[in-house]
Amino acid sequence: MKVNNVMKFESPAEMSVAALSAMASYCLTTIRAKGRINIAVSGGSSPLGLFALLAKPANMALLPWSKVHLFWVDERFVPMDDEDNNFKVACDTFIRRSRIPEENIHCINTAYSSPAQAAMAYRSELESYFGPGIPCFDLILLGMGADGHTASLFPMAKSLQEKTLPVIDVPPPVSSEPKLPRITMTLPVINKAAKVFIIIAGAEKQHVVDFVLSHGSREIKYPLQLIENENLSWYISRQ
Ligand code: 6PG
Repeated sequence: MKVNNVMKFESPAEMSVAALSAMASYCLTTIRAKGRINIAVSGGSSPLGLFALLAKPANMALLPWSKVHLFWVDERFVPMDDEDNNFKVACDTFIRRSRIPEENIHCINTAYSSPAQAAMAYRSELESYFGPGIPCFDLILLGMGADGHTASLFPMAKSLQEKTLPVIDVPPPVSSEPKLPRITMTLPVINKAAKVFIIIAGAEKQHVVDFVLSHGSREIKYPLQLIENENLSWYISRQ
């Protein structure tokens, strides 16, 4: 992992303002060049500040939503109206207030009988948008848990070895909440993205942040360190 573009902030609010402004200008540049942008977002608490800011009418107007395609980095295997569902949280915090057309929303459907089936269905969804193989996202927004996981790639998990599939199902984590089976994008997808924002807030995560930033790929202790993408930008809030 190469550590560069690290931006540190005193509060999640300041961090979200900076991340939103960088995200908006990156989106506009990409849309100008390619006619559209595809973004994969994470769940958990990390992106909430950014989502809330995005939901403000003045900020909503920053993006031409008909040209934005939204995907999910990972999902908890719970019904889509459950409070733990990442898609529901994104809908409640910003999607419902945006003008994003329904066909541009590519959520992970959890209405299948198993996480494995949901993962297979999402692989098909990605294949019909990107074509076969590992998809190349224009932008991926990641968080990090206090155990150093990112997406739903948890410490010591088999999922960290995945080389060919873009999306897999994983068992409930032992080191993080909520302890639910998940569907997650894999490291090859994160590594291939044109741009990755890593958004981390919380005093309880600072020891992991310090370790990761000072060690990079030396002495791998946390899943986040396995990311090999030259275009990372870090948004870190101490609180
Ligand atoms: C999830 C997430 C996950 C998240 C990290 C950080 O569904 O849990 O997508 O990858 O980004 O766990 O979570 P917090 O921001 O809640 O600490």
